[in-house]
Amino acid sequence: MKHALVTGASRGIGLHIAVELLNQNFRITGTARSTGFPDALLAHRHFKGIHTDLADLSSLFSSLKPLVEKDLPDVLVNNAGIFRRADFLVSDDEWIAAWDETMQVNLRASSLSYQWRIVYAVNRQ
Ligand SMILES: NC(=O)c1ccc[n+]([C@@H]2O[C@H](COP(=O)([O-])OP(=O)(O)OC[C@H]3O[C@@H](n4cnc5c(N)ncnc54)[C@H](OP(=O)(O)O)[C@@H]3O)[C@@H](O)[C@H]2O)c1
Repeated sequence: MKHALVTGASRGIGLHIAVELLNQNFRITGTARSTGFPDALLAHRHFKGIHTDLADLSSLFSSLKPLVEKDLPDVLVNNAGIFRRADFLVSDDEWIAAWDETMQVNLRASSLSYQWRIVYAVNRQ
């Protein structure tokens, strides 16, 4: 049975992707930041959910990286993403905080997890 890792599987598009992949006989590891996973996933014996904050490097290194290493996903769906509004009239600190969080979640976390997926796959060959 193939394994798919789907980030942001607690709701929205990621939830639908996870359900669809379960229907296609994948084993799913789904991630969320804090929201509980819905019954549509929890009721399925081939679903496992983990909570990790993709903006937080220590959380990535303690949960996502070991997961990719120990249970190499055949499919990696980097779906989780955020959109933070940052009006030009907010303070520099507020604008930079919104920018940093967006880059951390939308780019850094997905790039790192793709990198880990590739490195561990190459190391197994
Ligand atoms: N919806 C649209 O119209 C649209 C259009 C273009 C692109 N997209 C992209 O498609 C993707 C999914 O969109 P969506 O509307 O389905 O999103 P959503 O409903 O807001 O769900 C976002 C998912 O990402 C997780 N997440 C957010 N921040 C996180 C963090 N810091 N650490 C870990 N997980 C985090 C959330 O977990 P929690 O539930 O725990 O918060 C949730 O599971 C995003 O990348 C979005 O940018 C969406």
